Amino acid sequence: MPIRKTYIVEHLDPELGPWSELEYIAIARETGRAGGTFVLSSMPPSLVEKLPSKLTSEPAFRAETKGVEELYPEEERKRVCLLDPRAEKDISPDDKANFDVFLFGGILGDDPPRDRTGELRVKGFEGRRLGPVQMTTDTAVRVTRMVIDEQFTLNMVPYIDHPDLKINEHESTEMPFRYVKGDDGNPVMPEGMLDLIKKDADKSIDDLI
Ligand SMILES: C[S@@+](CC[C@H](N)C(=O)[O-])C[C@H]1O[C@@H](n2cnc3c(N)ncnc32)[C@H](O)[C@@H]1O
Repeated sequence: MPIRKTYIVEHLDPELGPWSELEYIAIARETGRAGGTFVLSSMPPSLVEKLPSKLTSEPAFRAETKGVEELYPEEERKRVCLLDPRAEKDISPDDKANFDVFLFGGILGDDPPRDRTGELRVKGFEGRRLGPVQMTTDTAVRVTRMVIDEQFTLNMVPYIDHPDLKINEHESTEMPFRYVKGDDGNPVMPEGMLDLIKKDADKSIDDLI
């Protein structure tokens, strides 16, 4: 059993939007700091070419054009855990001994959730849930690392559910996800995400006018 784990996000969208980009940079940085590896799998070659240097320069990061089924053939699949909001069992620190690889759906959150993680479930990976509330992909990886590397139980992790983010003096927007609560009391988000959320919210307000 390798001490350092691999965290794989199987990219399931045809494009790589700015939200996903910021999430993947945060995953690469934090996983590297914790001594793990971050693989972004199923990446079309055309998207690999366009990956930002902020991501590709992270030593823990690797882009793969192969999908996770090809990377982990049937006989190796039982060491891979799919983080699945519909799994029957919640993840626990004991899973450190059961799995070497943790797999996530590379999809933006949606409300209500469309269960696109189901596209990975049908491939026969054993699943674990991170509690009942939908997380962003970077939060899901963060919490998994806390449970596996730092041996937190899920109920020890400090959370903020559905935070209201201030867009400007007059407006705020509710994020329909669970986040880890940072030391400053705010939801932990990728660098640049708050500005992107504000920009997108301003754009949609402008579209309404
Ligand atoms: C933003 S979520 C997408 C959830 C989603 N709306 C769907 O269609 O399945 C991205 C990934 O984070 C992981 N994830 C998020 N919340 C989770 C939870 N509560 N339990 C297990 N995995 C979760 C899953 O691997 C999921 O594919």
